[in-house]
Amino acid sequence: MRQSPLVVVANRLPIDDSVAPDGAFEWRRSPGGLVSALHPLLRHTPATWVGWAGGTGPAPELPDVDGVRMHTVPLSAEDVRDHYEGFANATLWPLYHDAVEQPEYHRRWWEAYQRVNQRFAEAAAQVAEPGGLVWVQDYHLHLVPGLLRELRPDLRIGFFLHVPFPPPELFMQLPRRAELLRGMLGADLVGFQRAQAAHNFAQLATKVLGLPATDRRIGVDGRVVRIGAFPVAIDTAEMSALAARPEVAERAHRLRQDLGRPEQVILSVDRMDYTKGIEQRLKAYRELLANGDIKVRDTVLIQVAVPSRDRVAQYQILRDRVEHQVGRINGEFGRVGEPAIHYLTQPFDRAELVALYRVADVMAVTPLRDGMNLVAKEYVAARVDGTGALLLSEFAGAASELEQAYLVNPHDLDGLKQGLLAALRAGPEDVAARMRAMREHLAHNDIHAWAASYLSALEESGTLVGRRPATR
Ligand code: ADP
Ligand code: F6P
Repeated sequence: MRQSPLVVVANRLPIDDSVAPDGAFEWRRSPGGLVSALHPLLRHTPATWVGWAGGTGPAPELPDVDGVRMHTVPLSAEDVRDHYEGFANATLWPLYHDAVEQPEYHRRWWEAYQRVNQRFAEAAAQVAEPGGLVWVQDYHLHLVPGLLRELRPDLRIGFFLHVPFPPPELFMQLPRRAELLRGMLGADLVGFQRAQAAHNFAQLATKVLGLPATDRRIGVDGRVVRIGAFPVAIDTAEMSALAARPEVAERAHRLRQDLGRPEQVILSVDRMDYTKGIEQRLKAYRELLANGDIKVRDTVLIQVAVPSRDRVAQYQILRDRVEHQVGRINGEFGRVGEPAIHYLTQPFDRAELVALYRVADVMAVTPLRDGMNLVAKEYVAARVDGTGALLLSEFAGAASELEQAYLVNPHDLDGLKQGLLAALRAGPEDVAARMRAMREHLAHNDIHAWAASYLSALEESGTLVGRRPATR
């Protein structure tokens, strides 16, 4: 088995199997923030990515992607049901997002979570070079740092959580809370999107495990675990360069014509997820149409909602409700050839997505809770002409950085409507000044800066106490 100096361990590999329109089998980049952040970063780095290829049964042999080795972890149908759809996405996901849907607790799911985490830890242990660096990602794999430290004490281990980490009042619900915290503390550095999340984690380490903790350091088993906020970012320069390409500008121009040359285009791009506030946004839009604040002829809404986790009951229910709402709004307010909402559930390639960003006068990103939300950052980076208004939820991690966005509380329907109108009616100078400030921020705080700050903190972290020589 070839070994790498850098190993990324994430539930999902950056590519997904899919069937092309001509029936051929092909691989394409998986949608989602984690892949969008890490995929461009690792390109041409001698690294291995350990993850699941999206199917069930034996692990497929995958080719390297942009020089990065793909090491597949096989999951059975039962693993997918109980680990991915169960403990990860029906217990932790809702719990970590303010319990906007009720988290479910089942002992069978916890068994699967442990089993699958063990398998990921063993895979990482196999492919990491002696003394190498292993970077574990996200809530599917909380136990991996601890398990991996037992298998390979020679490694430097980082953990990064892409989603919010909840306050103690919520986390304390979790039946296996102590094990989860201990698993994360197997890392040398635990990174979060926001300082508040690091604070929550430190409080829980003391409350649940009785450990000495500050918002920067936690003492455990004679080691010091560093913790901190590292807000994830995008490849700003690459996104801007793509947006500036003549063919993308031309595509955006054609899209506007196809839309009937409306005065204003509003765009939303989400995974179909109940945390993204899609239903609340559509409701606000409907009310604005109903009382005449917005007219279909002048303004169009494009809602892209790519299906996600579609075997989890709450996601199926959400999709049905969103589609019912879209149908109802189009039925009530659309005209022949002029729907009120253009609703698209397809995955798009990057150039098409960026053309959509370029055509959008207002980008509405209004999640009820979101670790970061990279779509908001992508929109800003794609607005190479300096125009465009970003309507952003206060509850997205991105709001801590993109303070010049039109900020709204998506739980407040009237506030949401006012925010949308404010973004639609803002004067060009105001829009340009806000966009300039946000673009400036993203130019400096890009994915390379994020990785450099995380990895240098990881290099500095971890006392050598207890670090033993490589065993393999
Ligand atoms: P999350 O990680 O919860 O999905 P983010 O906003 O952080 O949310 O990241 C979503 C990522 O998925 C973005 O990079 C976005 O460009 C991508 N994406 C979303 N919808 C689509 C789609 N329909 N086709 C292709 N990529 C998409
Ligand atoms: O950002 C949270 C997250 O779970 C990421 O891990 C992933 O990129 C994205 O959402 C997509 O989710 P899934 O891997 O379940 O399709």
